[in-house]
Amino acid sequence: MGKQLGIDLGTSKTMIYLKKQGIILCTPSVVAVERKSHSVVAVGEKASRMLGKTPGSILTLKPLCGGVISDYEATSLMLNRLFRDIGAYSLFNRPSVTVSVPYIANEVEKRALEDAVIDAGASSVSLIPQPAAAAIGAGLRINSPSGSMLVNIGAGTTETAIISMGGIACSRVLPIAGDDLDRAIVRYIKSNYRILIGEVTAEAIKRRIGSAHPSVSRGYLEVSGRNLVTGLTATVKVSSTEIRNAIMEPIAIILAAIKSTLENAPPELAADIYDFGILLTGGSAVLGGLDRMISENMGVRVIVSKNPFDNVCMGIGRAVENPEKYASFISGH
Ligand SMILES: Nc1ncnc2c1ncn2[C@@H]1O[C@H](COP(=O)(O)OP(=O)(O)OP(=O)(O)O)[C@@H](O)[C@H]1O
Ligand SMILES: [Mg+2]
Repeated sequence: MGKQLGIDLGTSKTMIYLKKQGIILCTPSVVAVERKSHSVVAVGEKASRMLGKTPGSILTLKPLCGGVISDYEATSLMLNRLFRDIGAYSLFNRPSVTVSVPYIANEVEKRALEDAVIDAGASSVSLIPQPAAAAIGAGLRINSPSGSMLVNIGAGTTETAIISMGGIACSRVLPIAGDDLDRAIVRYIKSNYRILIGEVTAEAIKRRIGSAHPSVSRGYLEVSGRNLVTGLTATVKVSSTEIRNAIMEPIAIILAAIKSTLENAPPELAADIYDFGILLTGGSAVLGGLDRMISENMGVRVIVSKNPFDNVCMGIGRAVENPEKYASFISGH
């Protein structure tokens, strides 16, 4: 029998869970292909190091954008190579796959994901809504009659959801998350210092000194880039406070989406959430002071999950291990 896999196909990274083993792979969602033949040159970490540096004959692609597939062929090429790399794909051995999908994805988007997984070589594919996977992975009591609220802020999407009695009561998806904070930092450095930096540098700045609340000030960082006037490399010292101002706009949009999910929730569930709080997950949940900023603005307790990076994949993994228990969430062909 083929291997049973759970996959969190994220905008920035792909994680694979193998039944009875746990998470066996976490790698950037990037694939490098030959322009003419479309044959795969590299995937994951290796392809990621090639971003922006490849000769004209090679294309380096990020197949997901804003949490959904933006390049169908690149997605299945990347997954096929990953299946081979982990020994889950050969002529007589095809994996069965459970993959997460945004709760509000439409039928066309779901179909595209299923087809890409099958084209990549899977024998079957099941879908699980991402907020359900995140809640299971974070250990929320999803069958309890009291509501829980979860906010997953990743690289390409922010997904909010209120879960109660084994179902998703309401959810919102916003194509704005960590990548947008990086882009806002690039814009800030460009317009204030006339220095051009790449998104990789911007992400590093965000991780080192990024902050969403004035109480979390994380000092200064020297940043190098290309001076737009002289064309030469230049270095400036940037403060945590500047970065907080630079990312204020996308942060405000994320906050508005969280607020509106709660405002539109059924009153009884909203009352539960005011009692118990909101759980933050996804890689961007660890941005300095983000929990505090949301909490102060909404008057609700906000807790950052213990394992924000792998909640979704662990939740898919639990569903793969106990399909009966989580059957109500899973759909597939
Ligand atoms: N220390 C940190 N501070 C702020 N942001 C961080 C930190 N570490 C990682 N991130 C951000 O977390 C994001 C990645 O999160 P995650 O792995 O949950 O995304 P994803 O699942 O690939 O994307 P999505 O769910 O949106 O499709 C990136 O934008 C990254 O910059
Ligand atoms: Mg994610």
